[in-house]
Amino acid sequence: MAKTSLSVIKADVGSLAGHHVVHPKQLDLTKELLDKAKKDGQITDFYVFNCGDDINMVLTHGKGIDNREIHKLAWDTFKDVAILSKKMHLYAAGQDLLTDSFSGNVKGLGPGVAEMEIEERPSEPLIVFAADKTEPGAWNFPLYRIFADPFCTAGLIIDPSLHGGFDFEVLDVEEGSTVRLHAPSEIYDLLALIGTQHKYVIRSIHRHIDNLLGAVASTQRLSLIAGKYVGKDDPVAIVRVQHGLPAAGEALEPFAFPHLVAGWMRGSHVGPIMPVSVKDAKCTRFDGPPRVVALGFQLCDGELIGPADMFDDRAYDETRRKASEIADYMRRHGPFMPHRLPPDEMEYTTMPQVLEKLKGRFVKS
Ligand code: F6R
Ligand code: MG
Ligand code: MG
Repeated sequence: MAKTSLSVIKADVGSLAGHHVVHPKQLDLTKELLDKAKKDGQITDFYVFNCGDDINMVLTHGKGIDNREIHKLAWDTFKDVAILSKKMHLYAAGQDLLTDSFSGNVKGLGPGVAEMEIEERPSEPLIVFAADKTEPGAWNFPLYRIFADPFCTAGLIIDPSLHGGFDFEVLDVEEGSTVRLHAPSEIYDLLALIGTQHKYVIRSIHRHIDNLLGAVASTQRLSLIAGKYVGKDDPVAIVRVQHGLPAAGEALEPFAFPHLVAGWMRGSHVGPIMPVSVKDAKCTRFDGPPRVVALGFQLCDGELIGPADMFDDRAYDETRRKASEIADYMRRHGPFMPHRLPPDEMEYTTMPQVLEKLKGRFVKS
């Protein structure tokens, strides 16, 4: 059976009124360019949306993951949108495009990527998640809960096809090495790693009994790629759902708790992640709080049916209220940790200058 490839590729190439929201003209140009690629037969289908200041493209095709042609299409599209953004004097135009030349794959160049090549099931529902003002490790907590926690996913206990658990592939973003761990049999080891979410990031999840791919997440960290801070590595993820995988509602359930993530204001603060509809995915208060959107699709021989804007639902009102309350609580810590990130995780710092200035004034006591 022909396989379908799904590539979710995102970048921040500039935005309106600070790092707040993508301008409609940027989205229009992205759609126009991808529409042309669709007519030329380069891709089967596409969908474009934004989460805060990031443009996300969902592309379907038959070319597999890490495909040069697809990555070049995404790269060239972002480049053209960056040119428009520069013309419009939008803020931080082109910020995630870290190089002038394309080398065959967008990974390592700035954009975030989550891709899968799958044999479509007779009905193939899936959810694309995108977040703003946070980092790839922000998915660790919800992905663990979706695929390993029976207090979230009832199917792990009562659906025979989920009962064998899932294998988590975890990437050490500093070393560039991966390890595969089974849940439930190795959950203590798994949690020991993924609780340190700035270093150990879940990259993919497979069903244990037959290795069926359940989820993939983007694992790029711009700060590590560039060697210095150049912008957020706001992540994306794809989660396949239903029929032997977590139900759509089980995949959305962890987001009813606005867990704390790193990346708020200047990439240097911790705050609650707020699940919102695409129309509310704009970061205002203290450049946040961090947002997550969830778009549900059905694949139909590579065609994207949908999306359904899954957090556009009153069922998440209470979570949003709670997130605002937690945002208040965290903000009252001002410059103190743990609201402010530890020194090695901050994207902005004056520490070297301050220490240099005070060098002669420290006295042994
Ligand atoms: C960027 C972000 C923002 C910026 C802040 C300062 O994604 O999260 O909080 O870090 O607005 O931006 P600059 O240094 O560009 O003025
Ligand atoms: Mg930005
Ligand atoms: Mg962003």
